[in-house]
Amino acid sequence: MKERIVSGMRSTGKLHLGHYLGVIDNWVKLQNEYESYFFVADWHALTTKYDKTENLRQDVNDVVIDWLASGIDPEKSTIYVQSLVPEIAELNVYLSMITPQNWVERDPTLKDMAKILRSKGEEGLNSQISYGLMGYPVLMSADIMALNAQKVPVGIDQVAHIEITRDIARRFNNIYKTDFFNEPTPLLNKCSLICGLDGNKMGKSFNNDIKISDSEEVTTKKIMTAITDTNRVRKDDLGNPENCLVAFKYWQIFGSEEEIALTDKECRAAERGCAQCKRELARIINERFAPIREKRRYYEEHPELVREIIQNGSARARGKIQEVVGQVREIIGMY
Ligand code: TRP
Ligand code: SF4
Repeated sequence: MKERIVSGMRSTGKLHLGHYLGVIDNWVKLQNEYESYFFVADWHALTTKYDKTENLRQDVNDVVIDWLASGIDPEKSTIYVQSLVPEIAELNVYLSMITPQNWVERDPTLKDMAKILRSKGEEGLNSQISYGLMGYPVLMSADIMALNAQKVPVGIDQVAHIEITRDIARRFNNIYKTDFFNEPTPLLNKCSLICGLDGNKMGKSFNNDIKISDSEEVTTKKIMTAITDTNRVRKDDLGNPENCLVAFKYWQIFGSEEEIALTDKECRAAERGCAQCKRELARIINERFAPIREKRRYYEEHPELVREIIQNGSARARGKIQEVVGQVREIIGMY
């Protein structure tokens, strides 16, 4: 029997290369080895965007289209939408009862989110931390435990949340004198983190990202703005790739060994200017994403197909989750 994995992403709309390299690429490989469940966390999106729901449906579709285009295969993996499985919310209620308040207050990721919200203070309503946002790690635990998964493939930023999930699972087992729940562990990928075009963390709200769905023209234009060795003002100044904090980093992610070595050499000898270097880099990135973008266009032109994949996957996930939550009701002793 294969081990089961589950992971999700908030419905933030079109995904960027950070999502692709940091998470999705890993899922694509894992789906061959594990019984895999991947879902769009639209309730989690509501924890901070409850007052901006006009694009919610499109955002969910865009995330799923990016997954499908990237190679998540609905024949191998179950793709679903969190809010189409209401039993997750039921499990969230049970877990909320047994989770000590100070466990969620201690959660470092939540502390960061609260800090960001407060820094946007002038936006009024949204700077308040809601009861639902406090419950973020409990809801995430419900997502994972609803499938009684053994492993959770996530980026390093989510590991603290999985720790809480383990604690909650153990506490449930202790309280109800059972060994029903697994204590899930994070499954980290080995990929290098891609920074944004300005050298900071890549993120939609920082305006420094390249989207999976960007056209070749847009990608090239964006790459041309990537920071380079700032000491290199003129083309015949000798360059130093070690000081080239974005463009050369991208080369190291997307180039072949020979391409990286050649870039390094020509940069140091001033045999290549930064504009030419980045044009070349853009070409390589565009080549890598060409098949993904073509597949993406296909799904965009067939929204009924995407809807069907979501409906079928959600029904399948729901069936499995109803079994698990049914057993939980039994274990607790509900009516
Ligand atoms: N919090 C995760 C993120 O922001 C998304 C998420 C929600 C998740 N529920 C999950 C990830 C359960 C793994 C398992 O990326
Ligand atoms: Fe960076 Fe390329 Fe310019 Fe060198 S030539 S500084 S590697 S962009």
